[in-house]
Amino acid sequence: MADRIRKAVFPAAGLGTRFLPATKASPKEMLPLVDKPLIQYSVEEAVKSGIESILIVTGREKAPIENHFDISFELEQLLRERNKDELFAMVREISEIAQILYTRQKQALGLGHAILQAEDFSPNEPFAVLLADDVVDSEVPALKQLIDVYEKYEAPVVATMQVDGPAISRFGVIDAEEVEPNVFRVRDMVEKPAFEDAPSDLAIIGRYILTPDIFPAIQKTKKGAGGEIQITDAMRDLLDERPFYAVKLEGTRHDAGDKLGFLIATVEFALKRDDLGDEFREYLRSLDL
Ligand code: UTP
Repeated sequence: MADRIRKAVFPAAGLGTRFLPATKASPKEMLPLVDKPLIQYSVEEAVKSGIESILIVTGREKAPIENHFDISFELEQLLRERNKDELFAMVREISEIAQILYTRQKQALGLGHAILQAEDFSPNEPFAVLLADDVVDSEVPALKQLIDVYEKYEAPVVATMQVDGPAISRFGVIDAEEVEPNVFRVRDMVEKPAFEDAPSDLAIIGRYILTPDIFPAIQKTKKGAGGEIQITDAMRDLLDERPFYAVKLEGTRHDAGDKLGFLIATVEFALKRDDLGDEFREYLRSLDL
């Protein structure tokens, strides 16, 4: 039987250059979609998918992430005194969501290098990786969709989505054979290919199930696209040694680390809210666009 996926790693040490100046002194992962920080959406997704233990890889200027998942004594006391029971419960719940550990990536040398910081956290068992700026709005939590494939094939899994046209060059792209609807066995993968060289229209997005043999593979990986140590290059190295799978996610993925993607996600999430949706829709309709 496949090992159960209990652990998840959240690389959150990137510099967020696409969202400057907001990310100059604040973590991108704390940008809110309506009222909830990006990282809380993906931590909730992980917990709903069965994750028990979380490692967040942070860097400089990332303390607000730790504070967010910690107990906030003053705030809790104030909410209690003012009989704001619902808010109190909501704030307390965030600090009890899962066991969360932190480690620092001292230099932002790339996603592969960030994942390497998790070697001591999960030296012997498979683990999930979630990138908080990829927000997936789906019926079945995105990570759960990967875990289902992992449990069936007992091999690492990457999440993918279809990307049409030249935009594919912004992603890692797989060459793969479909083995059942929306599940693929990966033949090859390449990071940020030129549009003409992309092996398919299936782009890798920010959810992975990896096995500990990824760590020596990352250590061997040289700097690739953008001068960073790319996880795609390390995974590619492993393809000669073991099967690798991909799942085309059901749901809508938003790139909330990008300004336009963030705006779209904000509008869509706000429209779905019971407390805001109707008024917001009315406001949008009133705009003379
Ligand atoms: P991105 O490329 O989306 O994030 O990395 P970035 O580097 O923060 O943002 P831009 O592109 O400059 O705007 C994907 C994920 O990998 C993490 C980021 O925090 C993000 O969650 N990451 C990236 C690290 O943890 N360390 C790195 O060295 C690079």
